[in-house]
Amino acid sequence: MGKALEGVRILDMTHVQSGPTCTQILAWFGADVIKIERPGSGDITRGQLRDIPDVDSLYFTMLNANKRSLTLNPKTEAGNEIFTRLIEECDVMVENFAPGAIDRMGFPWEKIQELNPRMIYASVKGFGPGPYEDCKVYENIAQCAGGAVSTTGEIDRFPMVTGAQIGDSGTGIHLVAGILAALLQREKSGKGQRVTCAMQDSVLNLCRVKLRDQQRLAHGPLTEYPQYPNGEFGDAVPRAGNASGGGQPGWIVKCKGWETDPDAYIYVITQARAFPGLAKAIGHEDWLEDPEWSTPEARLPKLDQVFAEIEKWTMTKDKMEVMGILNPLNVPCGPILSMKELAEEDALRQTGTVVEVDHPERGKYLTVGNPIKLSDSPPDVARSPLLGEHTEEILKSVVGLDDAGIAEARRQGAI
Ligand SMILES: CC(C)(COP(=O)(O)OP(=O)(O)OC[C@H]1O[C@@H](n2cnc3c(N)ncnc32)[C@H](O)[C@@H]1OP(=O)(O)O)[C@@H](O)C(=O)NCCC(=O)NCCS
Repeated sequence: MGKALEGVRILDMTHVQSGPTCTQILAWFGADVIKIERPGSGDITRGQLRDIPDVDSLYFTMLNANKRSLTLNPKTEAGNEIFTRLIEECDVMVENFAPGAIDRMGFPWEKIQELNPRMIYASVKGFGPGPYEDCKVYENIAQCAGGAVSTTGEIDRFPMVTGAQIGDSGTGIHLVAGILAALLQREKSGKGQRVTCAMQDSVLNLCRVKLRDQQRLAHGPLTEYPQYPNGEFGDAVPRAGNASGGGQPGWIVKCKGWETDPDAYIYVITQARAFPGLAKAIGHEDWLEDPEWSTPEARLPKLDQVFAEIEKWTMTKDKMEVMGILNPLNVPCGPILSMKELAEEDALRQTGTVVEVDHPERGKYLTVGNPIKLSDSPPDVARSPLLGEHTEEILKSVVGLDDAGIAEARRQGAI
């Protein structure tokens, strides 16, 4: 069986992280992704955070798998003609340049629609229409603007960004959903449409529960937050440390070895249903008969003491031992896994979530494969392209240029 998006051709005008995350997933679904890169230099990430001199960085190789690279400057005469042909031949165009950049290249949406009414034109921008729509935005700015930073961090300490790239990769995934919906609608309507995702909006979407809490705050303190019952609440959702965002209290506790291992911790959730098993496991069977501890309501104002008692027990075991004991008791818990542990985890290799790829210049490297699993069309993760590796092949087979046309484009510095 073929791949889900076989036959779909993507004109990939993306760079850095947010856009490339989106088109990489489309490539893993089987689309033919043609990545357009500036002649001579390419996507800026090829040269950023390099670990090996003169070799495409992991930043680039881990975001551009399964794509073809075409160097092209649409601002030249020949480049403009080639780009026009590509718009005619592709199904989806994806871009995440600064606001107005594609228009300044001479290709506003109206013109794209005219050239190819079936075209789906998808963009990532930092902000939607409004006071900040012209701003350039990177990951951490989106996290700040979308509510993640004000709600992340230790209580009463400064705001914190998260290591998860929710602004870049998070928005890229949102864009994938929009493109797939537009492709489906095109089946019925025969028409393309514009798909836009603002990074601020995507981060806010991922912070949905915090806007929930903002509204709850009007009706009293947020009882599952560590500020309750002794701390103060202001008029905005505060930072909650490691408290669980759901209705079941949770916290990170130390495990054996925490003094020297920065990741010797486990997250434990004291779900009411599983609490009897948890209490017994940590040697607190007494809590089950004691009205001071036996109900979630009784425990709520003293969760710090509950977790301190749990921690006394977890500190006698390593995090995997704790997992081994608590999971059979249906106590939801999760070890704090380091990137080293994840890179070495056999199960993730088996499912294709962590994949080893071979690259002609850098040799073998690890990447994160497609986290979205389709039973009938599993992805084959292939290495990222070298700069301009497929220029001639695409110009001949997709654009229809002959050798003389390619030579002329080269003379103009268009490719
Ligand atoms: C990420 C971002 C801040 C980077 O900004 P930047 O490095 O200054 O790059 P820009 O997007 O402004 O693009 C720079 C120029 O390169 C030009 N360019 C891009 N590809 C080109 C090509 N193949 N050939 C010739 N010129 C090209 C653009 O036309 C633009 O020129 P202009 O400003 O004269 O119109 C910005 O692109 C942005 O805000 N993007 C939207 C939000 C986003 O995706 N952010 C997250 C990125 S992970």
